[in-house]
Amino acid sequence: MPEETLDLPLIQRVLDNHKEVPGALLPILHAIQQGLGHVPDEAVPEIAHALNLSLAEVRGVISFYHDFRTSPPARHTLRLCRAESCQSRGAEALAAQLREQLGLDDHGTTADGALSLRPVYCLGACACSPALELDGQVHARLTPERLQALVKSCRVEAGA
Ligand code: FES
Repeated sequence: MPEETLDLPLIQRVLDNHKEVPGALLPILHAIQQGLGHVPDEAVPEIAHALNLSLAEVRGVISFYHDFRTSPPARHTLRLCRAESCQSRGAEALAAQLREQLGLDDHGTTADGALSLRPVYCLGACACSPALELDGQVHARLTPERLQALVKSCRVEAGA
């Protein structure tokens, strides 16, 4: 992935706007992620200093909430449903297929930045399970072949 430069003015603006508010850490992390697409590790010392917290405290909160990313988002997000109906109709085998095909576990991102995996617990498509959501679009009645084709379509543009 290309080297990125830290947007210090944005981070400083966010800190100035939130640091006096009680419980400011989560709103600050959300605002930085909204502005930059992720919370870069280089921002952690600035946040810790502004809130008088340790680096470990800030990093602990970032890692506790899976919604926070520490690297730029992938071009595609695939959320495989892991809830009961999908589980009973093969979701675990599909998850294993993804692990093998991409070398990724839940919450992982491919090295080429093409695809991130996220688990989800019901997409409202239980009658047509197993299901996943790719970039906001639900795909149901998945088969290993359809899953493979969806993943391939995400990676073709990256030349993978
Ligand atoms: S359990 Fe997977 S869509 Fe409902």
